[in-house]
Amino acid sequence: MRLNCGPCVVREWRADDRAALLSVANNREVWRNLSHRFPHPYTEADADYWLDPQRRIELPFAWAIELDGSAIGGVGVDAGQGVFARTGNFGYWLGEPYWGRGLMTAVVRGAVAHIFAITQLQRLEAPVFAWNPASMRVLEKSGFERESVQRRSVFKDGQLVDAVMYVRLR
Ligand SMILES: CC(C)(COP(=O)(O)OP(=O)(O)OC[C@H]1O[C@@H](n2cnc3c(N)ncnc32)[C@H](O)[C@@H]1OP(=O)(O)O)[C@@H](O)C(=O)NCCC(=O)NCCS
Repeated sequence: MRLNCGPCVVREWRADDRAALLSVANNREVWRNLSHRFPHPYTEADADYWLDPQRRIELPFAWAIELDGSAIGGVGVDAGQGVFARTGNFGYWLGEPYWGRGLMTAVVRGAVAHIFAITQLQRLEAPVFAWNPASMRVLEKSGFERESVQRRSVFKDGQLVDAVMYVRLR
């Protein structure tokens, strides 16, 4: 898989992404906006776990974002179970040095089109912590709609925070 998204490419994670992954992922400001699956500090063991080929089997739609040949972030979708099998939990992150250049908007647009092309998902959900307006803006610019507010549903970084549910239907 190799998807051109403006200046970035979305592609499979590779074993040789280890050093780049460690340099961008070990960041509190990235961790603070993501679910519990993303660790902090982000250790060498965490990178090895993530880059283990077994993860590619468990999470077939989790990809690296590459800029100028280096991995600078991740994007992907997790399909739900059972009756939620046509719903996907969509997520993404970018290393802090790369924020504010429009990169993620281009990646989200490209990745969403690709996900709808290769899966039967009908609904992509992106729950955004209320303190993260940049991510809400990315989703709005990419055709997601603000659907609901899940009040005090998230406990992160020692704080209770609302999650704002953004949704894109096929
Ligand atoms: C959120 C994140 C993905 C944004 O990536 P990015 O490449 O910087 O996003 P873009 O440059 O494409 O767009 C950001 C938009 O947010 C806006 N923005 C940035 N900070 C903002 C703020 N504090 N308040 C309101 N809007 C803000 C920008 O102006 C831009 O909108 P514009 O094009 O209309 O001006 C990136 O900051 C990130 O990875 N954060 C940590 C992980 C994360 O939050 N993941 C998403 C979890 S839901």
